[in-house]
This record gives sequence, structure tokens and C-alpha cells, in this order.
Amino acid sequence: MLNFEFQNPTRIVFGKDQVSQLSRLLPRDAKILFTYGQGSIKRNGVYDAVLGALKGFTYVEFGGIEPNPSYETLMKAVEIVKKEGISFLLAVGGGSVIDGTKFIAAAPFVAGDPWDILTGKAEVTKALPLGTVLTLPATGTEMNGNAVISRYSTKEKLAFSSPLVKPVFSILDPQYCFTLPDTQISNGVVDAFVHVMEQYLTYPVGAGVQDGFSESLLRTLMEVGPKVLHNKTNYTYAATFMWATTMALNGLISAGVPEDWSTHAIGHELTALHGIDHAKTLAIVLPGVMHVMRENKKDKLIQYGHRVLGIQNPSADNIDQIIAMTEAFFHAMQIKTRLSDYGVGKDTVQIIVDRFRQRNQLLGERADMGPEVIEKVLLSRL
Ligand code: NZQ
Ligand code: ZN
Repeated sequence: MLNFEFQNPTRIVFGKDQVSQLSRLLPRDAKILFTYGQGSIKRNGVYDAVLGALKGFTYVEFGGIEPNPSYETLMKAVEIVKKEGISFLLAVGGGSVIDGTKFIAAAPFVAGDPWDILTGKAEVTKALPLGTVLTLPATGTEMNGNAVISRYSTKEKLAFSSPLVKPVFSILDPQYCFTLPDTQISNGVVDAFVHVMEQYLTYPVGAGVQDGFSESLLRTLMEVGPKVLHNKTNYTYAATFMWATTMALNGLISAGVPEDWSTHAIGHELTALHGIDHAKTLAIVLPGVMHVMRENKKDKLIQYGHRVLGIQNPSADNIDQIIAMTEAFFHAMQIKTRLSDYGVGKDTVQIIVDRFRQRNQLLGERADMGPEVIEKVLLSRL
């Protein structure tokens, strides 16, 4: 096992109607900015429940954060934070609202342009505390320090990470899944599945606990995913789905193991250029990474084939079957897995490859995926 440090300060409050706990969890004397998305919470009762819990608190609302939250919109909230002297942020929504709120928390303390924390030119040195009410299980953002922000004017989508923006608390009520459109359930299951894969499908380092936990999460998501999709209001399935997505990206399974975020890095470019949903980009790219990087990942591919997919005595000869079974799971989740399914062709492949070349960015657990390898991955997915 590799050396690691692990600390997760987020308090999880999980279960039915736990939004009522907000009044206990929020700091009494704070001036709160209550952030949300484009209206789903007003249609499913979450907004009213939050307002009920906010009685007696001082707060300002900021709605309208888009899916794939934009720098342009978030900067408007940063102005409000400064003008109103906000001291605590409450994000109510999916990954986009929570990620956007992490940016709002950190941006006021950046000396120059806050976009610099996305490009790596500036560090997060300080952030306002934030709490969340999660309405869409998928990203794990409710228990991690990551945020992915888009800049619409330049078609860029970049991530930053800091322990300072880990939520102080997150309320997880599985009942909120009942109103999710099918496509968001599919996206949530596949996003979390690929999160586990990017922390698991590298090379063995004798990390038995992390491997076993990852395999359990992968099996659980494969089993419960189609069930949630076809039984949307089943609380037991929703609860399993929600907890699996949180555990998939909260630092636990990545502790002490190599990681490979190449599928996400390439996928973000597809979202930035074509607006394809985040999880759908992952379902396109991951089979390509498995295919092109099969030699690097051979041992873990075989382990995954045996322990997750249930193939008896698998060997390197089974790798094509292992990739096909993974892709079949994405199809079972009603997600298409080819670039051509989304009208994306070779011209986009070249743009993406050039972007990685310009950034001098190497991907993969061994940092050996340069522009030529990324090109191979994408061309295999046309
Ligand atoms: O905007 P509203 O009206 O709230 O509607 C949203 C949005 O249209 C809707 N929705 C959310 N909860 C709902 C609901 N509709 C009905 N009932 C509910 N209970 O769903 C739509 C999608 O929401 P969004 O927040 O965009 O989805 P998701 O949670 O999948 O987040 C995606 C974003 O997270 C980033 C992605 O790149 C993308 O920008 N990620 C963040 C990560 C992190 N912070 O660790 C890791 C991930 O890999 C990912 O990159
Ligand atoms: Zn993701």
C-alpha cells in the first residue's frame, strides 16, 4: 500500500426527512447564502422544506446555478457574498449546485481572477464554510473537496480540489431521488461507477481493504442501478444508490492506491465542447481507456473480471469480454457509449488531442498517456 493521509470532516446526516436537522446544523449567528439550481427544488417540495428549516436564520437566496455550473453565473454570487457579508453557504441541489457553491466559497479570497484556482495559477488559501442538502446522488461532491467549473465563453471545463471546501455537513435524504428524471438516475449510477473504476483499475499495490471495498461498490452499483431506474420510488433501492455514490468518491477507496483520472479528464473536454452530460462522456471514454491501456491495467482488469463480473478463472484472453460486459452495463443503464451516438466525429478528437498537447498534460496512473494515446482512446470510440 502507498503512503497516505486520510481525513474527512464532513458530517453525514442520512435518512428520511432529515432536512429538518438543518436548524440544528446551521450556525445560529451566521449570515447564510442559500444556493440552488434551476428550479427542481421548487417543484418537488425541497425548497419549501428548506425554507421551513431556515426560519429564524438570516439568509439571502441565490438560484439559477446551471448543470455544469458556469464561472460567469457564480461570479454574480461572489459579488453578493462580498456585498452582504455572507459567512456561511448552504447548497441545495445536485453536483452542479454544490460544486458551484464550493467555488463561491473560495473565490472571495483569491487575490487575482478566481478562475486561476481552476487553471492552477492560484491556490485555495481560505474558504467560507458550507453545508449541503443533496438532491442527486452521483458526484460524491457532498463529502469531498472537489469542484468542476465551466467557463462558457471559452468552452473550458476544469476542476479544483481543496480540503478547505469540504462540506461541514451534508444531508442525504434518499426520498429526493423519487423525482429524478430517468436520465439523471442513469447518469448518477454510471458517474459513481466510473469514480470507483478510476481509483481501482490501475495496478495492484496489495491494498486489500480498498480493493474489496471498491469491488463491493462496483457490484452494488451494477445490481441496484437498473433496479432504481425501474422502481424509482423504492426507498431501499434509492438509499443504497445514494450511499454508494457518496462512498465512491470521499477519499476512502483512494487512500494508499494509485489513481487514474484519464476518463474524467477526457470526458470533461467532450462536455466542454459538445455539452454531453458528464456521465455519458465517461461511458464513452472508459471502454476506450480499458482497451488501449489493457497491458498497463492487465492485473486489475482480470481481478475485476473475476471478483465483480463473476468470470471464472479469467486471464488476459478475457479482457475483450470484460470490456464488453462493462459496456453492456452502461447500455442496461440506458446510456449510449459511442461518440457517433452523440454526433461527435474525428474533428473533435483532433481538438481534444491538441488541447492536451498544448497543456503538456499526461494522464494515467503512470502518467504515460500523452496526446497520441489519448487520440487512440478516442478513435477507438468513434
Ligand atoms: O438545476 P435543477 O433545477 O436543480 O435541476 C437539476 C439539473 O437539471 C436536476 N435535479 C437535481 N436534483 C433533482 C433534479 N431533478 C429532479 N429531482 C431532483 N431531486 O438534475 C439536473 C442535473 O443536475 P447536476 O447537479 O448537474 O447533476 P450532477 O449531480 O450529476 O452533477 C454534475 C456536475 O458535477 C461534476 C460534473 O462534471 C458536472 O459538472 N462532477 C463533480 C465531481 C465532484 N465535485 O467531485 C465529480 C464528478 O466526477 C463530476 O465531474
Ligand atoms: Zn464523475
